[in-house]
Amino acid sequence: MRTQRIAVVTGGNRGLGLGTCRALARAGDRVVLTARSVEDAVEAAEALKGEGLPAVHPAQLDVSDEDSVQAFFGFLQAEFDDRIDVLVNNAGAIFEESGADTLDVPTDTLRQALDTNTLGAHRMLLGALPRMNRQGYGRVVNVSSGMGGLAEMGERWPAYRVSKAALNALTRVFHHAAGDDVKVNSVCPGWVRTDLGGPNASRSVEEGVHGIVWAATLPPDGPSGGFFRDGEPVAW
Ligand SMILES: NC(=O)c1ccc[n+]([C@@H]2O[C@H](COP(=O)([O-])OP(=O)(O)OC[C@H]3O[C@@H](n4cnc5c(N)ncnc54)[C@H](OP(=O)(O)O)[C@@H]3O)[C@@H](O)[C@H]2O)c1
Repeated sequence: MRTQRIAVVTGGNRGLGLGTCRALARAGDRVVLTARSVEDAVEAAEALKGEGLPAVHPAQLDVSDEDSVQAFFGFLQAEFDDRIDVLVNNAGAIFEESGADTLDVPTDTLRQALDTNTLGAHRMLLGALPRMNRQGYGRVVNVSSGMGGLAEMGERWPAYRVSKAALNALTRVFHHAAGDDVKVNSVCPGWVRTDLGGPNASRSVEEGVHGIVWAATLPPDGPSGGFFRDGEPVAW
């Protein structure tokens, strides 16, 4: 591994993604802060530079758009010597109406949720994991949710829940495709005060980011293929 890692964060312009970019940059990584709007990426990266974090590089990336993902890996090759040491699959959204009854959520809503929350991570894994395996180093963090855990599976939010359960399945499957010192884990950040979590959530962004950064900075003997909250295993 190089002394300064290249860390890629999806949905890095706000919420947990922005907090993760800040924390990884503070820890010494070169951070590629991606957002589906390049203007949002530039603005967020400038804000972090204004905080004294110069090693933050903006890039356009819509994980639901195959062409955008391909273009991003082209950018990585041109600008970062094709290197990716950390991938935080953070981009995600809730597509159902708040409080909608399970029986009222149409299949198309599940399709939308899967396309961003699950297939978005899959597109990124297909790009990142071969590079990490070649490098002999990599840390993938799939930002999941207790709402995707079968053990905690409750009522409502069917599209979000199913997309995160499927994301957890991706973690397990891709863990088995990971080479030496390449780790793939799912992390639940807890209920966090972001646009998605809402103002009544119990945790700050910094508290939510803590477990993500833990998984992004695991030592060689750290776990892989697991589901964690605050660095502790949680039931799938
Ligand atoms: N907050 C919580 O309580 C909580 C709990 C468990 C898990 N999580 C997970 O944590 C992650 C971050 O959520 P958050 O709470 O920080 O939400 P947020 O503030 O709403 O931010 C979501 C981020 O995802 C981006 N995004 C959405 N669709 C995208 C796409 N197709 N391509 C690229 N980026 C996309 C958004 O970009 P735009 O600005 O362009 O919309 C935004 O940057 C999500 O995966 C979420 O499911 C959150």
